[in-house]
Amino acid sequence: MTNGDDGNADETDNAPQLSVQQEPFGETPAGEAVEQFLLTNKKGMVVSIMTYGAIVTSVQVPDKDGNFANVTLGFDSLDGYADPKNKDPYFGAIVGRYANRIAAGKFSIGDDEYTLATNNDPNHLHGGNVGYNDVVWIARVVETESDDSVAVELTYVSNDGEEGYPGNLTVTVLYTLNNDNELRIDYTATSDKATPINLTNHCYWNLAGVTDGEGTLPILDHVLTLHCDNYLPVDETLIPTGDKSAVADTLMDFTSPMAIASRFSEVKGEAENGGYDHCYVIDGWDQSLRLAATVRDPKSGRVMEILTTEPGIQLYTGNFLDGEPEHGGFAQHTAFCLEAQHFPDSPNQPDFPTTIYGPGEVYKQTTVHRFSIASVKP
Ligand code: GAL
Repeated sequence: MTNGDDGNADETDNAPQLSVQQEPFGETPAGEAVEQFLLTNKKGMVVSIMTYGAIVTSVQVPDKDGNFANVTLGFDSLDGYADPKNKDPYFGAIVGRYANRIAAGKFSIGDDEYTLATNNDPNHLHGGNVGYNDVVWIARVVETESDDSVAVELTYVSNDGEEGYPGNLTVTVLYTLNNDNELRIDYTATSDKATPINLTNHCYWNLAGVTDGEGTLPILDHVLTLHCDNYLPVDETLIPTGDKSAVADTLMDFTSPMAIASRFSEVKGEAENGGYDHCYVIDGWDQSLRLAATVRDPKSGRVMEILTTEPGIQLYTGNFLDGEPEHGGFAQHTAFCLEAQHFPDSPNQPDFPTTIYGPGEVYKQTTVHRFSIASVKP
């Protein structure tokens, strides 16, 4: 498969212009004003990002016939995202200070032991009770180095002791949209004390197009390729055992294009009807930007490639979505997440790449979502 045509909008006087629009997006229950930024490129792709949780609320991309649709799950309004009942899905959010799980919510740095919330009993998940997905970030539109892209930068300062983590940490996320239909996410973070850092974006993707809970179809036919020869086996609480296992000849193998759901029911998991919830080890990690995943929806022809500087990528196939209002009405398997990140529970796993950053050390991550149209028939 090649990804030649990327769905040009017509070159007319009404052709979309590279732009950023800012609009109010409501108020949190605590009365904080939330803004939304719409990044538009010359092909008509629009990415919407709000200051609450630095959340990507919508990504409009064309299909093979040039029809645009939103391809990421979300709630209808700020109220949905901010409702404490609706925290579980983390739709579109930046997740931190530590994305994924930390066993029993405990870790040590030197002689200092730390205890975090065990909000995913018995473990800590996605930063705790009030993670970065649940706070209002400061945003500004920034000039990019190229005249082919637009960007918005969001910053959050997380206090020493917040959710049990040591150190005042400043985290900056730069979302950039360019005219090649690439959404780039650059993360930077620094702390004044040694602390674990593992950030990710938690978009739920459905390349066939997202409407409401009822109208959004399962992603069963999406074709996934992962450039990952190994994955991290987990225990029954989804904590890695510390081993790396080869995917060859197993249900975990996506090294060649494969319908994502072809082995859902056989994958042992927490959820009824199965599905994946596993961290894959990206081949040849050297901190450079490398292709980790390609997903294609045969019907619409939409393709998304993910390139990242991270060593791992969590494949989560929306196993816990259940059609209830707490999940925006979206049913099980109506989306997949591919969360670029360091490995789960790294602070307790000496053989995993470290996630502990000393005072003044700079955490950096770049992940790119590149959208195109498959040039082959399904
Ligand atoms: C994923 C995680 C799942 C689940 C989900 C949120 O990142 O792997 O186990 O917790 O977030 O519902």
